[in-house]
Amino acid sequence: MKVRVAAKAGFCFGVKRAIEIVKDTVRGNPGPIYTLGPLIHNPQVVASLAEMGVVEIDNLKEISNGTIVIRSHGVSPEIVNEARVLGLDIVDATCTFVRRAQELAHDLTEQGYQVVVVGDRDHPEVQGIKGWTGGKAIVVENPAEAALLNKEAAYGVIAQTTQPLENFNSVVEVLRGTGAKIKVCNTICNATSQRQQAARELAGKVGMMVVVGGANSANTRKLAGLCAASGTATHLIETADELDPAWFNGVNTAGLTAGASTPDWIIEEVRRRMSEIEEQNGPEQEEEMKDAV
Ligand code: F3S
Repeated sequence: MKVRVAAKAGFCFGVKRAIEIVKDTVRGNPGPIYTLGPLIHNPQVVASLAEMGVVEIDNLKEISNGTIVIRSHGVSPEIVNEARVLGLDIVDATCTFVRRAQELAHDLTEQGYQVVVVGDRDHPEVQGIKGWTGGKAIVVENPAEAALLNKEAAYGVIAQTTQPLENFNSVVEVLRGTGAKIKVCNTICNATSQRQQAARELAGKVGMMVVVGGANSANTRKLAGLCAASGTATHLIETADELDPAWFNGVNTAGLTAGASTPDWIIEEVRRRMSEIEEQNGPEQEEEMKDAV
């Protein structure tokens, strides 16, 4: 059995940048340092930041001093103001691609468009973008929801940065079909589409796919969904310990990919463990083949 790693997998630009920003902040700051929610959706990385003294909070009301790091998902302007009023030092690690979506959402609203965000309603990035429209944006998750919108409005359509392009295009097509005036701004980031395309291509060529990432990572779950949709058996794991040798039975080539919040060391650990399983399974499979002859 061979193990093939997707051409693009793991940490994206925005996540790498956010981690560097936090590390720099820790170096030059006596603390306390907080993140509003986990810095990235990967429990292993969050645990290592906690060891460096970075404390995750759920709500600004929990703190009264120190430094708050805004994570790559970004936040609404209200939250930035709340932090200012509390007198906190603000370190902004919002990904530049998310910032662009926020600015577009703001500008489209100013221009009189009803902003439609194609994305996961409960995702922090989407809630942050909605905040930049003064809470006026409508969130639609799929074309069926788009079909229910009032056809009279002028829509400014943007995407959660990690949306699959197909879903975004399908929503746009539905809105176009209603005859409503629409302005489309594709805010899906390249890192996401490149990882999705590489995962889809690889899934089409292998007997089984392993997708590595935090269980709470939306982009990792989407990668797994795309691989499974190709008809290839797909397993979503957080760490190498979750690999089950039984998945590899009868598989000639296994594929490996990882979400944008998965660090290289976890991908490498999984790849190594997959190769070990390959070595353990190898002789058995040869025996089975001999039996068959
Ligand atoms: Fe930014 Fe795209 Fe990553 S929006 S955080 S580079 S997935």
